[in-house]
Amino acid sequence: MNSIADQEKTKETTAISASESMRGKDIPLSRLAQPPAQVMARFCFRPWSAQDAALYQGLLDNPELWRYMPEDYPGKITPDLAQTLIDLSGQAAYHKVRAVEYRGQVVGQTRMQWHSDVTPPQSAEISYWLGRDYWGLGLAAPMIALFSWRCLSIFPALSTIVARVHHDNTASQRVLQRLGWRQIRIDGDWLVFETTRSDGIDWSRLRDPDPLRA
Ligand SMILES: CC(C)(COP(=O)(O)OP(=O)(O)OC[C@H]1O[C@@H](n2cnc3c(N)ncnc32)[C@H](O)[C@@H]1OP(=O)(O)O)[C@@H](O)C(=O)NCCC(=O)NCCS
Repeated sequence: MNSIADQEKTKETTAISASESMRGKDIPLSRLAQPPAQVMARFCFRPWSAQDAALYQGLLDNPELWRYMPEDYPGKITPDLAQTLIDLSGQAAYHKVRAVEYRGQVVGQTRMQWHSDVTPPQSAEISYWLGRDYWGLGLAAPMIALFSWRCLSIFPALSTIVARVHHDNTASQRVLQRLGWRQIRIDGDWLVFETTRSDGIDWSRLRDPDPLRA
């Protein structure tokens, strides 16, 4: 069986057709609208590398950032812990984690955690964060929309993406609402939002923020 990582390598360069054959099954695909070129051009999604450890530590070593994250604050982010988290981020069978660059600066991270290790993945949970200096600039909506679009494009069987947002995390709720995600249930302190492939991505919902323009 191809691993998710293998499949990604071959898919990332392949154009998406209306129907794609995966492991002998035809999977109907809705055509995904392409992002506006000017939005796509400003963002880059790439794996973390060992050379990012100090930068990663600097961005993540802030309890305020972890306050409403689905994962618990692991305590002070030491260089060793930063390196361990970067190593874990590379486990492609489990999740797809990308450092997010905006106009060449690393501003945060997006992560898609597969709901099972079955290939191809059919549902997943997204999580995301921006470094504290980049909050309130309107970067989250295009970052989440672009990353979702990339995952839906690369993984044709992926049909549902959910996000768990703390009920006090108004900024994150506003971002998902802006993108048209639906709140489908409440799990204790967490609101669960969902989007599906057939919802598509309405790029007209994005503002055109360019906050770090020189
Ligand atoms: C949550 C997060 C991704 C939001 O990204 P962002 O780019 O700062 O968000 P925006 O600047 O686009 O703001 C989103 C909306 O929330 C509003 N908002 C921001 N902070 C707010 C607050 N404290 N109270 C109420 N509204 C707030 C903004 O006015 C904006 O509203 P609008 O769309 O109606 O204009 C970012 O703050 C972050 O990384 N936080 C730490 C990690 C985290 O919580 N991740 C999410 C886990 S689910």
